[in-house]
Amino acid sequence: MDQGLFNKKITQIEDNIFEVEGLRKGEYDVQAIQYDRLISNGLYNRIMWGNAPDAYTDFCKSGLESLNDGIVADIGCGTLSFTYKAYAEHHKKNIFLCDQSYEMLKIGENRLSNICDDLSTIKFLRSNALDMPFKENSVQAVLTFGLFHVFKNPSGLICEIARILLPEGQLFLTSLCTDRKLSAKYLNFLHKKGHVAKPLSSIEIKNIIEENGIKVSGFNVKGGMAYISGTKDKS
Ligand SMILES: C[S@@+](CC[C@H](N)C(=O)[O-])C[C@H]1O[C@@H](n2cnc3c(N)ncnc32)[C@H](O)[C@@H]1O
Repeated sequence: MDQGLFNKKITQIEDNIFEVEGLRKGEYDVQAIQYDRLISNGLYNRIMWGNAPDAYTDFCKSGLESLNDGIVADIGCGTLSFTYKAYAEHHKKNIFLCDQSYEMLKIGENRLSNICDDLSTIKFLRSNALDMPFKENSVQAVLTFGLFHVFKNPSGLICEIARILLPEGQLFLTSLCTDRKLSAKYLNFLHKKGHVAKPLSSIEIKNIIEENGIKVSGFNVKGGMAYISGTKDKS
């Protein structure tokens, strides 16, 4: 592992799993298996979010396909439930799959290694999305799916992404949003239970991204999910 890329000490904890030294445990550790089962369920995604999991996979693939070289970081990659096929197809790229939860990363690692023999350029990195270990201007593309809506202060996430991205580096982001009635109701329920932050509309999400240094170039809403891509400002 090239420590020159990082501004924090990185420790290897397993063959292909690394972590930022001193990082506290991820909150998803205790519910990783149940969470993975629920979100992988096609019916759940169709009913609650008006989406098919294939749409998440396609968005990840389209992001990866648009990149030639440089470092790619998936922030809050979770169990790779929807993305493992995309990463297997692009396994030659220099990819960091990042999440605070070891248990989520471990499920993701098993899933990916079951369909891909060569993970020599893919690393799993336990890290905090709000305080990433990458140096400023070091990452070519950030992918982050289903994480934005978790944070009370999502500007903090976008600021951190803008910090690590190279000038003109790319962002591919999905977030649950309130644009679809049933999804909004369920999101509000999840918010009251403390599972997600205050729900936002897709336009509010787009505005937060643009206010924090990323110019949005792709904006699409399917059901209760916003699919947004953009580029970090040049300067
Ligand atoms: C809603 S899940 C989304 C997982 C995956 N991207 C997907 O689309 O299935 C959110 C993920 O973000 C991770 N997470 C939550 N807070 C985090 C933080 N502060 N830093 C890094 N990861 C975090 C959780 O462990 C979980 O795996």
